[in-house]
Amino acid sequence: MPEIGLFEAMYSARSLRRLKPDPVPEELITKILNAAIRAPSGGNAQNWAFVVVRDPEQRQKLGAIYRKASDIAEAMYAARGRPPHLTERQFARLMTTGAHLWQHMSEAPVLLLPCGRPPALPPREALPPDIAARWENEVTYAERIRGASIYPAVQNIILACRALGLGTVITTNHIRCEDEVKALLGIPEDIATFALMPIGWPLDRFGPLTRRPLTEVTHADRWGAAWPG
Ligand SMILES: Cc1cc2nc3c(=O)[nH]c(=O)nc-3n(C[C@H](O)[C@H](O)[C@H](O)COP(=O)(O)O)c2cc1C
Repeated sequence: MPEIGLFEAMYSARSLRRLKPDPVPEELITKILNAAIRAPSGGNAQNWAFVVVRDPEQRQKLGAIYRKASDIAEAMYAARGRPPHLTERQFARLMTTGAHLWQHMSEAPVLLLPCGRPPALPPREALPPDIAARWENEVTYAERIRGASIYPAVQNIILACRALGLGTVITTNHIRCEDEVKALLGIPEDIATFALMPIGWPLDRFGPLTRRPLTEVTHADRWGAAWPG
């Protein structure tokens, strides 16, 4: 695999859901995980954990849970309809490739679950009165940034896979049935799973990625003022 530049990786690391069942060398998985743990985390807490599932029976069971959870997702997508910025073709492709994964998740040689322990709030009584008075805000804040200490690691995984020629996609449907996933994998109660990522050699090509235009989503100095780029 020839080295590719970081920007090329970012521009072409599209979701690849159709993967070959061929095994992925363990050293490549280790390399991907070493990239994951280079990510930032709140307070540098590094409260992450990664469950790498290669055992065929475990993958089979995980795949069945993903399938079940995806039935719920399917109903949600159908009721929501096509986002206006996607063409009919792009939306149809998303639904078709998404549906492929519902059926074939277990066939990926590696299923990776980035997990994390949500930060524990200090006891309210231990806080100075002015801070204790805004306790509810702190709870809301903690809830709001819940995933922010693991999703940067997920993006590193996506880019590392791209650099190594491996396909992957961030999926979260399984969280709808997370209790079953945790029971299957023996994940402790205080640990949450944030993604389920199939990893394997792709059947389809990388990028290019198409996105809403930058000028549509960027504001210069204040909301509503056009960014010149
Ligand atoms: C938070 C999040 C959750 C996602 N969950 C799923 C999922 O459960 N199943 C799936 O197939 N793709 C999932 N995706 C992938 C998106 O569908 C994908 O990123 C998007 O369609 C853009 O695809 P592209 O990068 O190939 O253009 C998820 C992406 C994100 C960021």
